[in-house]
Amino acid sequence: MTMWDQFFWLIFPYLMLTIFVVGHVWRYNTDQFGWSAKSSEFLEKRYLRWGSTLFHWGIVFVFFGHVAGVLVPRQFFDMLGITDEMYHFGAVWFGGAAGVATIVGLFLLMWRRFSVKRILRNSTKADILVLILLTIVTLTGFTNTVAYTATGGHFDYRSTIGPWFRGILTFRPDIMLVVQSPFGFQLHIISAFLLFGIFPFTRLVHMWSLPLAYLRRKYLVYRAVNPKKALQLAKRSD
Ligand code: HEM
Repeated sequence: MTMWDQFFWLIFPYLMLTIFVVGHVWRYNTDQFGWSAKSSEFLEKRYLRWGSTLFHWGIVFVFFGHVAGVLVPRQFFDMLGITDEMYHFGAVWFGGAAGVATIVGLFLLMWRRFSVKRILRNSTKADILVLILLTIVTLTGFTNTVAYTATGGHFDYRSTIGPWFRGILTFRPDIMLVVQSPFGFQLHIISAFLLFGIFPFTRLVHMWSLPLAYLRRKYLVYRAVNPKKALQLAKRSD
């Protein structure tokens, strides 16, 4: 094991996760009014509708794919009677579809941000960095799915990357599990941790502000105001 292995698979993940946690506390305490993804819908709608919908639905399923493939130990699936073949089928077809939706969505969002002048002018450096990093993370992840999971490449991330990642979360990571991983997987993980490191300083914080109250609250009725009618009503109520 080299010094670089120690850095990338031990120090770097904890450094990024620490920045992730402390950064959120700092951002919450100093910038609650800026805690948003600042809508640009009024500047451009067409690309946004498709790009944002595809990206967000795709990434939600990619997230659940990571829970199943990285966070949940294989033994749990064995216990439920889910065989490796069944898992593999899900990872290729459902994971693949989620990956394609995410990538197409990201491409549209990227195209929109760079080609629509007024969107570009209203973008911060952080907005652009997030899009580029998301694209790198997603493309490296998807390349692994295509090159290994879907086409039978010989690498089993469920008994290497999975236990290493769970070890990071439980503070006893075994670096040896990940040092031999193919370069594509390593690039995916390093870029993902980099994304976690910049997360609190970007628009990505909107992820923690899911408007769940919308599901329970009473309807708000919006009406277009007709100035003449409003004046008549006001006069009548005098
Ligand atoms: C350190 C955290 C992460 C680890 C350990 C990890 C690990 C993996 C592994 C092992 C795969 C291959 C899955 C398969 O082929 O079945 C994969 C695929 C993928 N990952 Fe990650 N990943 C991480 C973070 C992320 C993040 C933050 C994103 C997106 C923002 C992401 C997006 C993807 C995508 C799009 C795929 C392709 C799979 C699909 O199409 O559903 N990953 N990742």
